[in-house]
Amino acid sequence: MSASDGLHEPKIYAPSEAAVRSAHVSGMPAYQALVDEANADHQAFWARLAREHLSWKTPFTKVLDDSEAPFFKWFEDGTLNVSYNCLDRNVEAGLGGKTAIIFEADDGTVTRATYSDLLSRTCRMANALRERGVSKGDRVVIYMPMSIEGVVAMQACARIGATHSVVFGGFSAQSLRDRVNDAGAVMLITADEQARGGKSLPLKAIVDEAIALGGCESLKNVIVYKRTGGQVAWDAKRDVWLHDALAGQSETCEPEWVSAEHPLFLLYTSGSTGKPKGVQHSSGGYLLHAALTTKWTFDLKPDDVFWCTADIGWVTGHTYITYGPLALGGTEVVFEGIPTYPDAGRFWKMIQDHKVTIFYTAPTAIRSLIKAAEGNAAVHPDRYDLSSLRLLGSVGEPINPAAWEWYHQHIGGGRCPIVDTFWQTETGGHMITPLPGATPLVPGSCTLPFPGIDAAVVDETGNEVPNGQGGILVVRKPWPSMIRNIYGDPERFKKSYYPPELKGYYLAGDGAIRDAKTGYFTITGRIDDVLNVSGHRMGTMEIESALVSHTDLVAEAAVVGRPDETTGEAICAFVVLKRPRPTGDEAKKIAKELRDWVGKEIGPIAKPKDIRFGDNLPKTRSGKIMRRLLRSIAKGEQITQDTSTLENPAILAQLSENN
Ligand code: PRX
Repeated sequence: MSASDGLHEPKIYAPSEAAVRSAHVSGMPAYQALVDEANADHQAFWARLAREHLSWKTPFTKVLDDSEAPFFKWFEDGTLNVSYNCLDRNVEAGLGGKTAIIFEADDGTVTRATYSDLLSRTCRMANALRERGVSKGDRVVIYMPMSIEGVVAMQACARIGATHSVVFGGFSAQSLRDRVNDAGAVMLITADEQARGGKSLPLKAIVDEAIALGGCESLKNVIVYKRTGGQVAWDAKRDVWLHDALAGQSETCEPEWVSAEHPLFLLYTSGSTGKPKGVQHSSGGYLLHAALTTKWTFDLKPDDVFWCTADIGWVTGHTYITYGPLALGGTEVVFEGIPTYPDAGRFWKMIQDHKVTIFYTAPTAIRSLIKAAEGNAAVHPDRYDLSSLRLLGSVGEPINPAAWEWYHQHIGGGRCPIVDTFWQTETGGHMITPLPGATPLVPGSCTLPFPGIDAAVVDETGNEVPNGQGGILVVRKPWPSMIRNIYGDPERFKKSYYPPELKGYYLAGDGAIRDAKTGYFTITGRIDDVLNVSGHRMGTMEIESALVSHTDLVAEAAVVGRPDETTGEAICAFVVLKRPRPTGDEAKKIAKELRDWVGKEIGPIAKPKDIRFGDNLPKTRSGKIMRRLLRSIAKGEQITQDTSTLENPAILAQLSENN
């Protein structure tokens, strides 16, 4: 934790003079001027930026409509098209021949797409979708590997006003089915297989399985991109090869001009109930923040080569692959594979080969690559030429100071600032982050709010707590890229993000503390039943529901997180079986069966690391499971808390034993 404790002064890294001189936001006075501008007139600030950064078909006349708060609307009577802003606009500005995407496949093959290529490919895909009856407002699920086609599919939806819902390729048939069903999607775009780490993994077969589960009747077609040429089952009435769908399509396609409030996408994420929520984002406000944060946080310039290692199945891939860098006419790397194939030097080799200047990844990846480099000198970053780098970023979970220092020294050569960007699926883009030519950095702190973002740390009644004292992270004023709704569930939206006791502030779901001296923010972790495993959000209830759906075996389950050196948090499940508590090899066998079961129900990322069996779970007399005790057991701590309200205290000793 970087908040000063009075004993240890945190290390501070001031931006270099060169960084200050060249940055879009140049120096702390420039940052402060933007903050002051936003404080003086919040709406005028955002309106100015929206006019400067987006191309509008018809300009907006009203900035913010808060008449139905917390369902805020931004720039609503303005019309635009997101794909026009990312593609046509750059081609019209003379960037048609500029490389937009450098794609590196799992096997190392590199292909490039210019802005003109991307535009014509997007138009052809958009025409293919239109030809099959997809129109404005329809939902399209994209279940694709990392590829230029994946980005094009998203842009094509944006072009015709269809709302995309990208499902990460690691999700199971059941999860995919639930998302298609909840969104009422009319079209699904997938691939035969995905290539990852030298293996071909099925996608189309999982789509078939998802549809066979029932509940996907809204789907008219499944469009299949041939990636590996692997065997797939085929339903001639429903399935269409992408190359057939594209054959003969025109390379131009009139964009659908939509209101700034038109839903650009849904993205399902975990909450504190068993059911993932379809986070709904807008077109204008979202794109504004995607572009603006790419410009100010990543300081993107025309000559940069930007690489965000996230998958397009997560919000980071949406904002910092598909939309932000393209809206600015940048050049970016898109990578199909995994960081450890063919060896753990892959990222460093790619930075060297493509002369990447800005690199954005997750702490989990950094921590696992530190381990790999320490174990094998051949993949140590010091063996690669990383001198092209000028800026590093981190996202998805807290970055511990030791990992920060390693990243700074070995990847950034001690010269590249690190932007530790705090944000969420719901926020659309960065919320609290350093700006590289302005903010002095403190390892482990995401520093200060992005200009125009009114973040604060408050108590349970919404009153700001003094710096140095921890509390709940909120955002007091609405901002353009904020979540608009939970698809189909406005009540849950209000309950989750705007609880009445918080004075109308947005509840992020994280705890935070501001440094007593600097006011810098440090995120202290989720305050709800959401875990963060390798930067992926998982609901404990979701995993519990998956476990108890194994009705032959499981009577009851409780899931908690415990700290893990590499993945940040690890999933720990306490399970009561419908048979006597197993031990030894039997316990191992059943634990494996349950792990695989959760993998099939949700996806491999949700598999519990530890599974412990008990005759019961620790409960209060009213039957409530005492999770804080389970959290202590999972961590291997001695139980020092009060257990007097517990109905069955003896269970604690049993659960503390390893089966
Ligand atoms: O707990 C915070 C953590 O990730 C959560 C959001 O997860 P998700 O919606 O999947 O989006 C991840 C990518 C934006 C947050 O509530 N988190 C994200 N970034 C940071 C972070 N925690 C600490 N520091 C960060 N930089």
